[in-house]
Amino acid sequence: MNIKNICCIGAGYVGGPTMAIIAKYCPDIQINVVDINSERISQWNEKNLTDLPIYEPGLKEIVGKCRGVNLNFSTNMKKHIAEADMIFISVNTPTKIKGIGSGQAVDLKYVESSSREIAKYAKGHTVVIEKSTLPVKTAQTIKAILDATVKDKNDFEEKKTFSVLSNPEFLAEGTAINDLENPDRILIGGEDKEAINNLVTIYSRWIEKVKVLTTDLWSSELSKLISNAFLAQRISSINTISALCEATGAKIKDVSLAVGMDRRIGKYFLNSGPGFGGSCFKKDISNLVYISNHYGLYEVAEYWQKVLDINSWQQSRFVELIVKTMFGTISSKTIAILGFSFKANTNDTRESPAIYICKKLIEEGAFLKIYDPKVKYSQIKKDLSFNDQKVEEEKWIYSNSINETFNNADAAVFLTEWEEFEFLNWQDLSTKMRKPTWVFDTRSIVNMEEVKKSGIKIWQVGYGN
Ligand code: NAD
Ligand code: UGA
Repeated sequence: MNIKNICCIGAGYVGGPTMAIIAKYCPDIQINVVDINSERISQWNEKNLTDLPIYEPGLKEIVGKCRGVNLNFSTNMKKHIAEADMIFISVNTPTKIKGIGSGQAVDLKYVESSSREIAKYAKGHTVVIEKSTLPVKTAQTIKAILDATVKDKNDFEEKKTFSVLSNPEFLAEGTAINDLENPDRILIGGEDKEAINNLVTIYSRWIEKVKVLTTDLWSSELSKLISNAFLAQRISSINTISALCEATGAKIKDVSLAVGMDRRIGKYFLNSGPGFGGSCFKKDISNLVYISNHYGLYEVAEYWQKVLDINSWQQSRFVELIVKTMFGTISSKTIAILGFSFKANTNDTRESPAIYICKKLIEEGAFLKIYDPKVKYSQIKKDLSFNDQKVEEEKWIYSNSINETFNNADAAVFLTEWEEFEFLNWQDLSTKMRKPTWVFDTRSIVNMEEVKKSGIKIWQVGYGN
């Protein structure tokens, strides 16, 4: 089959950038990205490219070139599913918040509803691709839903057929465009050789064939979960060592470098910080814990649960440290918060360590001034969920300018490693802040010596005071 028309269900952090890249390299294929969230679709269609719903370096340039040519964002699911030869399911797969497996298992309701829409509207033969991260054997559920509709059809209606593939995405936010253009590997799981070839043909427009791995469906699904688990495990491991360094005087960056230079270990993903955030690590590892328990592998479940526990511990120990250092109370003190997104170069705040840390600081009575170069006021308001305007004004304010954030603050807490935070003029800032002044740097990005020279006391993750 010659793929001429692709539909992607879900215009989020994966669907949007991934389809933009396919559109860039496949000008002969029409790509329609659909979503039930009409506000998100209208943001993708914004004339002003700086107002796209997702901030990702390099994304707006590609959307600017392809949108209206072979890349289209729409809410018309029926039309675009019917037209498609190939459909990617890129919807969100959050952790269940109630019922069986609550807090651990993945909530499949969006995947299921997408599958039902496909079953209803698809025509002829359609290759359906699981792009979302899903627990092992979900492709079977998708298949079952699709096959059930095929069986329901009577002889007078046009026959529909489906092939289901798993093609997990490995991009990281903040580097999505580069990750999509130069991936370490492409993983395709499935049984139908022709469908696999169709997808390989698309990727081979810009990726060498040696990087394309093909497996069965289940191995593909499980590999995605395990990749995230291994990455998260590295962060929890280095974060335990950050505390040991603070206690002993060893320097965390030197330890990371020395350890990471062993090629068997590798230098990446060894930066200690406020714990991993983002929409995936916590949910994927929780799911791994759930699956392990399900199969009676309790020790395996406990092992991975510890990776999650260490992550929460890192955040709570920072809050305790801040309160303790500031003479045991932060009540009525003003704290500048630098960075709210879960990492630099993204406007995404899902599971950001900043949410937990800010809430706790507010609970302890502090007044926060929050600055982030890409996260909007409305998002922070939602995350801190102070809907009562009066209460909110009493607890925190949004700061539009980085310099203003420091005015009259007793302390500054760095939570995201935005590049602009590396080059602050500490002599100048120290005159704006109340004395005694503290800096708490949970990403070890500010220049410790410069801060000390300005008379401010500083604590850095993995270094201590
Ligand atoms: P997202 O929340 O940004 O986007 C998902 C979109 O799907 C939303 O806009 C939502 O409105 C839409 N949607 C939900 N149900 C729908 C339906 N029935 N019909 C049409 N649209 C529907 O999520 P995301 O970050 O893009 O993640 C998507 C999947 O990819 C998840 O499984 C995630 O684990 C995985 N993943 C994410 C990343 C990442 O860095 N964000 C990386 C790799 C894999
Ligand atoms: C992560 C993986 O890196 C992707 O490969 C995967 O596709 C994706 O999850 C997913 O499945 O969603 P992402 O969460 O976007 O990507 O971002 P990461 O760069 O992995 O960062 C996650 C968190 O770990 C951030 O809070 C980051 O600050 C933190 N981190 C990362 C550290 O604390 N130290 C590090 O050395 C690296």
